[in-house]
Amino acid sequence: MAKRMITTELMEEDIKLESTLRPQMLTDYIGQQKAKEKLKIYIEAAKQRGESLDHVLFFGPPGLGKTTLAGIIANEMGVNMKTTAGPAIEKPGDMAAILNNLQEGDVLFIDEIHRLNRQVEEILYPAMEDYVIDIVIGKGAGAKSIRLELPRFTLVGATTRAGMLTAPLRDRFGVVSRLEFYTTEELTDIITRSASVLNVEIEKEGAIELARRSRGTPRLANRLLKRVRDFAQVKYDGKITKEVANFALDLLDVDKLGLDEIDRSILRTMIVNFNGRPVGIDAIATTIGEDSGTIEEVYEPYLVQNGLIIRSPRGRMVSNLAYQHLGLPIPEIQNP
Ligand code: ADE
Repeated sequence: MAKRMITTELMEEDIKLESTLRPQMLTDYIGQQKAKEKLKIYIEAAKQRGESLDHVLFFGPPGLGKTTLAGIIANEMGVNMKTTAGPAIEKPGDMAAILNNLQEGDVLFIDEIHRLNRQVEEILYPAMEDYVIDIVIGKGAGAKSIRLELPRFTLVGATTRAGMLTAPLRDRFGVVSRLEFYTTEELTDIITRSASVLNVEIEKEGAIELARRSRGTPRLANRLLKRVRDFAQVKYDGKITKEVANFALDLLDVDKLGLDEIDRSILRTMIVNFNGRPVGIDAIATTIGEDSGTIEEVYEPYLVQNGLIIRSPRGRMVSNLAYQHLGLPIPEIQNP
């Protein structure tokens, strides 16, 4: 599948940008009010008691700030953060080594934690609960298990698929926090802050236009800001106005709702080829020549989230909003 401008997955071009723009402390972090309030209290309480923070699990769609919040936790607690990811830890011994190298109070951030394999995950259970690991030395009848004490650390796990976490792992997190899509107002503030960090002049109306098309996701907002900045610099006098934002985003094929051509072709197919009647995912996939799993996991969620597609027991249906968005007449009687 070709990379889309509007993907919220981490792209190569985001890595440097995100490390520049990432807020370092809670007060600089915009949005996720609920998660932030909870964290603020837990951090303060742990600091007052002189203890490490309880283990924290963040879940939610990509690009909403899970890694950023892990970094903020470490900064606020005044400790170091070690970062790894589920698929990167292949053997129980690798996990044991990572744990054994932590210092008192450190944050261990494990991204995509649902992708840890079972044996590796089992090392984590006593580590999270009692700050120990049991290592088996030797084989067969002569095998001995020795127990290693670990420093008190905080595990911060992140996942896009909370449902794929095993119950024993999920239950060992004291704090479980779900991240939500950002509102247009919050994204406008984030874009304004990012523009100021990047030394780009931006008008409020320009920031709002960018925010509207960023699919509720700061990662995308910042990526689009960077692209629009280039247009502002080359074709205008450097300032991002509403006009520049509109011009650049139209050219980048990110429409007023943040949809691209593939999103629109899914909606158009449902309306034109299937007359707006309920239709199965496989039929849509065959018609537009895409894999049905990709449509279901990558394209459809945002369309459902924004009320453009309705999932019913009889199949997927388009809403009136989808007709309006594509400029097509709404049929008098839908789905006769
Ligand atoms: N950059 C990316 N996400 C952000 C957020 N939530 N607050 C401030 N700046 C950000």
